[in-house]
Amino acid sequence: MKKLFITGGRRLNGTIRISGMKNAALPILYACALNKETCVLHDMPQVSDIDTSVAILTAMGVEINYRTPTTLEVNGAGFTPCTSPEKLVGAIRASSYLMGVELGRFGRTRVAYPGGCPLGARPLNLHMKGFETLGAEMETSKCLSGSAPDGLHGARIMLDQPSVGATVNMILAATLATGTTTVINAAREPHIVALAVFLNACGAKIVGAGTTEIRIEGVTSLHGCTHTIIPDNIEAGTYMAAVAGTGGCVTLTNVIPKHLESVTAKLSEMGVTVIEGEDTITVRSEGELKGISITTNPYPGFPTDMQAQFAPLLSVANGMSTITEKVSSNRFAYLDELAKTGMTVSKSDSLATLPGRQSMIGCSMKATDLRGGAAMIIAALMADGESDISNVELIERGYDHPVEKLRSLGATVACREVFKVSTPVAVGSIG
Ligand code: EPU
Repeated sequence: MKKLFITGGRRLNGTIRISGMKNAALPILYACALNKETCVLHDMPQVSDIDTSVAILTAMGVEINYRTPTTLEVNGAGFTPCTSPEKLVGAIRASSYLMGVELGRFGRTRVAYPGGCPLGARPLNLHMKGFETLGAEMETSKCLSGSAPDGLHGARIMLDQPSVGATVNMILAATLATGTTTVINAAREPHIVALAVFLNACGAKIVGAGTTEIRIEGVTSLHGCTHTIIPDNIEAGTYMAAVAGTGGCVTLTNVIPKHLESVTAKLSEMGVTVIEGEDTITVRSEGELKGISITTNPYPGFPTDMQAQFAPLLSVANGMSTITEKVSSNRFAYLDELAKTGMTVSKSDSLATLPGRQSMIGCSMKATDLRGGAAMIIAALMADGESDISNVELIERGYDHPVEKLRSLGATVACREVFKVSTPVAVGSIG
């Protein structure tokens, strides 16, 4: 088992480069299976959700070569539908994108239930309804399956809510369908735009990505292209929050400041200096923070993937703060772990109240999910004394080399294997 060991109380200073966005790289990687030609993907993040996806697609016949650790050549010619390895599919959420790809290219799908971070109920009803509107007959029993023997046909799909995953799956399914598909109330996240940009570079005809209405005119085939993954706004936002909490001055390179507007606005409201360049952001903080209220919302609102990282900041801020969660059904499990630092917090399913002016003491914590784990790292960097964090594997799902990046900013952090000491068994004396 791996653990992170962090000594708190050090300011962060310096410059780090933000990696490619996990949640853009994932749908783009799966989209390569719609294509019989080779695509070259630059700036792929080195995170385990990508490793798992590479393993799934390789097992299904996609040829993937690493030109460098962050540049992949992907050829989907040999992709065989309905052959996904159950265990790997069940380990991540993005494996649900196999449904859109399999139905779109072959008119049939069969995948195990996807996994992902435990953030409460994560239903797939909108995906299923969307596929049915495109003409597939779907079944949800032991696994997720569906068939459209004559292929999918373009249609108007109204999403009850702007789900990222359902929007991705509708785009994947409709790209090779006959006729035109319109997705109404679509998610507007930057990674939806990135997927459309990638597919259009392969010959797809997608307009409106980034707005609430996306139109996909089906094409018969795709061709290869070269694409660079956009920077990870959540990784950037996490480091911004960390500097705000510890104090110091850090410049992030390879960022798109527009994708971080809601995070920047909240940090500014707390009294943190945020300077935006063309593709850089500099964050300066004295560690003196004001209490604020945060409400999560789909993009361009404050991201649900960033609320946990703000909690340690709000716990020390001057004045009371609240976090209202409006996207995920259960995203406060991490607060029970943060409370071990000594901070006080009261929570219901969708509202957390933090009285502020708390001090945090180093302690042992266990990551509950990817972003909750990131919040524990920030708390440990801010706390007095030493902390350790277990379940590091959850953090590695979405953060590229966090130990190296934090160390380069002056943090005292290490990741070590720890072995459980088993109870000694009495043995008889020999000879
Ligand atoms: N929802 C439904 N029915 C559906 C689909 C979604 O009710 O068929 C609900 C969900 O229960 C949730 C809300 O809609 O309450 C939003 O879910 P969405 O589908 O947008 O989320 P997702 O596609 O499962 C992606 C990210 C998550 C991120 C959410 C919200 C990926 C691989 N995952 O999940 O990222 O929290 O969008 O922005 O892109 C993370 O990176 O740590 C992470 C959890």
